[in-house]
Amino acid sequence: MKILVINGPNLNLLGLREPDIYGRRNYAALQDYIRESAADAGTEVEIFQSNHEGEIVDAIQEAFGVFDGIVINPAAYTHTSVAILDALKAVALPAVEVHLSDVSKRESFRQISFAGMACIATYMGLGFDGYRRAIFHLRDFCNGEVKDA
Ligand code: DQA
Repeated sequence: MKILVINGPNLNLLGLREPDIYGRRNYAALQDYIRESAADAGTEVEIFQSNHEGEIVDAIQEAFGVFDGIVINPAAYTHTSVAILDALKAVALPAVEVHLSDVSKRESFRQISFAGMACIATYMGLGFDGYRRAIFHLRDFCNGEVKDA
């Protein structure tokens, strides 16, 4: 089984950006963590990061027929992008949403998640561990072991 992990804008600056919110570990450490988690789950993984909405839409479209599921942290595009929501709906691959921080306890403009409307589950406020849980959730879902939300 092959999982695509998509990370949106500014996640490449982990470690530097607002460490009190996002932690002190950098993006390379997150990539290592994701690869280790996928290996533990027995899945293949590819990781994609972009600061550009259209590139994220392209990556979702290109995942069709190649990947079995998507883990996505759309970052700020979570709260603005109907295009990413539509792309997820278009390819109809099972997707799990991740946020490092607990967006439910943050500003009002972060309270809507467009991408989340096309996802079977969301993990937030768990830091890196959210990605691990999302990968295992997707694996179990694809193996018929968890139901759609
Ligand atoms: C984030 C939360 C978003 O609101 C924010 O814009 C991000 C990161 C998170 O992982 O906590 O860039 O998706």
